[in-house]
Amino acid sequence: MNQIVRHFFCFGAPIATDSILSERIPPQKNAFQVGQWSQSQDFKVLKLPLLESDKVYGFGQSLGGFNKRGQSIVSYCTDDPVHTEEKKSLYGAHNFFVVTSTECFMGVFVDASCRVTYDLGLKKRNQLTINLADPDYRLLILEAPTLKTLMDEWFEWIGKPYLPPIWGLGYIQSRWGYKSAQDIRDVLEQFEAHRIPLDGICLDIDYMERYKDFTVDPETFPDFENLCTETREKGVHLLPIIDAGVKIEAGYEVYEQGVEKGYFCTNAEGFPFVGAVWPGLVHFPDFLNEDARIWFGSHYKQLMDVGIDGFWNDMNEPAIFFTPERLKEVKELFQKAEPDALDVMPFFELLDGARTLINNDGYQRDFFHQIGGRKVVHERVHNQYGYRMTQSAHGAFRALSSERKVLFSRASLIGAHRHGGLWMGDNASWWSHLKLNMTMLVGMNLCGFLYIGADTGGFSHDVEPELLIRWHQLSMFTPLLRNHSALGTQPQEPYVFEKWALDALRASIQWRYRMIFWQFSNLLKATLQKDLLFKPLEWVFEGAEPTDTQVIYADALMLAPVLDRNQSSRIVSIPEKMLMLKLDAEGNFEGSFIEAGLHRIPVALHEQIVYLKKNKFLVLNDAMKHVCELDKTHLTCVGFVEGEGTLDLFDADQTYGYEDGDFESVHFTIKNVEADYHITQKGSIEDLKRIDWVFFKHNEITVQKRMEVDEYEDA
Ligand code: GLC
Repeated sequence: MNQIVRHFFCFGAPIATDSILSERIPPQKNAFQVGQWSQSQDFKVLKLPLLESDKVYGFGQSLGGFNKRGQSIVSYCTDDPVHTEEKKSLYGAHNFFVVTSTECFMGVFVDASCRVTYDLGLKKRNQLTINLADPDYRLLILEAPTLKTLMDEWFEWIGKPYLPPIWGLGYIQSRWGYKSAQDIRDVLEQFEAHRIPLDGICLDIDYMERYKDFTVDPETFPDFENLCTETREKGVHLLPIIDAGVKIEAGYEVYEQGVEKGYFCTNAEGFPFVGAVWPGLVHFPDFLNEDARIWFGSHYKQLMDVGIDGFWNDMNEPAIFFTPERLKEVKELFQKAEPDALDVMPFFELLDGARTLINNDGYQRDFFHQIGGRKVVHERVHNQYGYRMTQSAHGAFRALSSERKVLFSRASLIGAHRHGGLWMGDNASWWSHLKLNMTMLVGMNLCGFLYIGADTGGFSHDVEPELLIRWHQLSMFTPLLRNHSALGTQPQEPYVFEKWALDALRASIQWRYRMIFWQFSNLLKATLQKDLLFKPLEWVFEGAEPTDTQVIYADALMLAPVLDRNQSSRIVSIPEKMLMLKLDAEGNFEGSFIEAGLHRIPVALHEQIVYLKKNKFLVLNDAMKHVCELDKTHLTCVGFVEGEGTLDLFDADQTYGYEDGDFESVHFTIKNVEADYHITQKGSIEDLKRIDWVFFKHNEITVQKRMEVDEYEDA
């Protein structure tokens, strides 16, 4: 196969998801025939035979390794903070996957917002089965000769990912439990005192007045505007959380307006549906109704007016702790139970009854949306809810400001990738979740999400310093780098740990900042060129043995952090000769070559070790405390060239102009000719005046070349 083959189908009368931005071919209606695929009569079940060698990647935020074969995944946005191995659904519903076979790369997108269940060779090893709860949906199947051609085509359909402003790649400190403005000032001071770079502090629900969206507690956060100004003057941004549920409280503007305008989801009788989340009883904005979406989004302005330019949206699966009706039922169950005569089985039934209060599946059938004048039960469009909340916020940002804002969300569907980033939800301070963080990166990239990251260190439970350090060694490459932890856990800010741990954490964060120009460049490049930031080894190195513990970043670096406790070394699979770079705590680097094969590599806690691919470069800028201090005038490019190397650098300002071509880029070609290197350039970045090229050969730096911008030959 040497060109793209597209198949696009529409079954029944689907409710629009807008996940697809541009239909490259018209859909065939109520007919389905593609290669080996088969289907049930109502199109609710689709089957694809798998060859023994087929691998299945994708599904965004889901458990398991890079290759999902042998698993079952249920695409259904779920607020489940306990991501143990048997779980099938997490916060995102990402219905895109790629089957790689010897013949082609097949991309499959199930464009639906209902529950979709995938059996990826679990029941029958050689059969992939898709089972939809709703027969009205669209299906896109793309067949491509290479992964790159598949991605080019796929991103044409779904549109380019959201791009944050560069400060969104800075270090973000977060914690549920910063209770007052003083707590925020303390965090800021501690970061300064301990010389740890910082760009953002998240405000969790504690900043609100009784957890009411778009309010600020006047007692604990008096003079909020000054707090924002003060932190901004220090180079740090505050990022308040916004939750989906709106508190029911007479006199509260958002609640009153929402009721008056009919912008909340309704129950079967047509009254605003009531559920309980952090604020107590709430109504849920009908984000699927465009007017309601615009209305909710307009409230972000109040916070933007005091200088806020970053937000996180939460609880938007939506999470529902209980409904008054279900609580009543459970209460009755308990009342009926006779403590003196309760057998064990009825006791467990009682317990199960109580468990069904939180996020009960049945709630999804109890409320309704207004979509284009039609009343639609939530269950059918469940997976759109978080996505549409993100769209609501992003729409408002664009309407209100010419500068991009930082935004990340919890629940999502493909389509949300155009409006914001994602964090990986409530993980735990477990080593297994560090591993999961790595594998999720690829799946999420495949589904369009580039601005992503996990709660570094883990959200629930107390983190061990060693885990936090190892986690930073991975997170220093994820575009969203946030340390977040739950109420009641031990503090997790870098400065609360003993000196040895603090020094190691500071070293990772400082290295992140030394790479921030390059990391933003890589993100922008991937956005513009429809590429992924993270790939499994076997996609970059032909014939490489697959592993879930190493990942390729930006086609240049292989990341292989230590993923287990008490390890001072790890086995690394080197797919071809690479340059192993040791980045020490003082900001120095050393390089040595490492040949293809399995190697046990010592990795001290305070060192970052990365593996650079031949003919690629790691790009460094000067260290700094905040992204606003970034000096783009000179960079250091470190690499090894055998034959010909290339380097692309991209830059754009904070506006949306890059979407219309308003960005800068320079492409360098580097040829090794005997003992020297000939470098040509195409394009330019205005601020960039000088590059120090550092070339390794025979385990030592052989050539350092300082080049001013006008010294290159034009390509
Ligand atoms: C949810 C979020 C978490 C947040 C908490 C309190 O669990 O996922 O990040 O800290 O709510 O707002």
